[in-house]
Amino acid sequence: MAYPFERLNNLLAPLTPNSNATPISLSIGEPKHHPPDFALEILSDQEKMRALLATYPSTKGTPKLRQSISTWLKSRFSLEVDYEAEILPVNGTREALFSFAQAVISDKTNPIVIMPNPFYQIYEGAALLAGASTFFCSSFETNNYLQDFESIPSETWRNTELIYICSPANPTGKSLSDGQIEKLIDLAHQYNFTIASDECYSEIYSSSHNKPNSLLKISENIGNKSFEKCIIFHSLSKRSNLPGLRSGFVAGDSNLLKQYFLYRTYHGCAMGGHAQEISALAWSDESHVNKNRDKYTEKFSAVEKILKDHYKLYRPEGGFYHWIKTPIDDQQFAARLMETHNVKVMPGSFLSREDNGEDPGLDHIRVAWVSEKEECIEAARRLVEFARGL
Ligand SMILES: Cc1ncc(COP(=O)(O)O)c(C=O)c1O
Repeated sequence: MAYPFERLNNLLAPLTPNSNATPISLSIGEPKHHPPDFALEILSDQEKMRALLATYPSTKGTPKLRQSISTWLKSRFSLEVDYEAEILPVNGTREALFSFAQAVISDKTNPIVIMPNPFYQIYEGAALLAGASTFFCSSFETNNYLQDFESIPSETWRNTELIYICSPANPTGKSLSDGQIEKLIDLAHQYNFTIASDECYSEIYSSSHNKPNSLLKISENIGNKSFEKCIIFHSLSKRSNLPGLRSGFVAGDSNLLKQYFLYRTYHGCAMGGHAQEISALAWSDESHVNKNRDKYTEKFSAVEKILKDHYKLYRPEGGFYHWIKTPIDDQQFAARLMETHNVKVMPGSFLSREDNGEDPGLDHIRVAWVSEKEECIEAARRLVEFARGL
């Protein structure tokens, strides 16, 4: 199926947006806060760049980068992760979430990949292109947008090779509880499947919630200290406002990473040396991340104050999205909002699939509060004006 942004462009293309209002886009989760200065300083160091650009980078990544990631995992989650065998750099989590499925799905008959719904669509494409079927573990409003893994039948678990979890989740902003993840780890051992935990929003959390936990920490807590069957995906895109750098990492089960490393060697996707150099610094510095997080908290407080009497809102546990119920069909909502107020939001049904006759994304929109505060406030005001006119 076409990617959500293409579907949104097709929906909005025939419309004429209100030209009296400046366009505001809240549809895409692309951070707009500034990248840290040290990233630009490295790029403008000609001598360093000359050497790095003249060298083929290694797929495994420099020890300096892997050590800085290992140190970050220790300080953030109190985790002991071996930087030689349990960490690999990737060019952003998107390519890794996709290629990981290609590397680990076997030729077993009828393999299943379980994933959230609504979701980050890469999970679905990765499963289908690896020759697997998809099974959705949906987040419905009636269940407070939580996933219910208990409802998955045992014959589904039996054929499952991989489960994607996303915590905190895009678009719902909900985190899985430690208890839910513990049960998933038990199931992974019982039925022999891998857990791929997308944790790319783990650093954009609000002070009113607990810090998001990591699959690897929960795994360690329950005695699975070698992280068997567990892999995490982290990114600098959201944490450090570096979506253009294409930098993240995967960590966990060393046997799975060995298999994945071999795949990556052939795939030819080593991270450029300049990106490795910047990334090593970005994982070693928390001050820019703290400032970034504070800016999101400030924006959430400001827009919630404006929106709260007109929309049913909840503060996400992590990430920069509001997942909001709409009083009319979500696609109509997005189209009319664009026409009347020149604000672009993502219809929920472009991020979801029908599951047993019900679509959890219907009558919802995803609003990405990525722009600077003043623009977010202006957009919130327009959303209120729009709601009044419905
Ligand atoms: C849930 C989720 N996972 C992964 C990604 C990919 O991020 P990146 O490839 O920039 O690390 C995104 C990007 O929006 C996302 O929302």
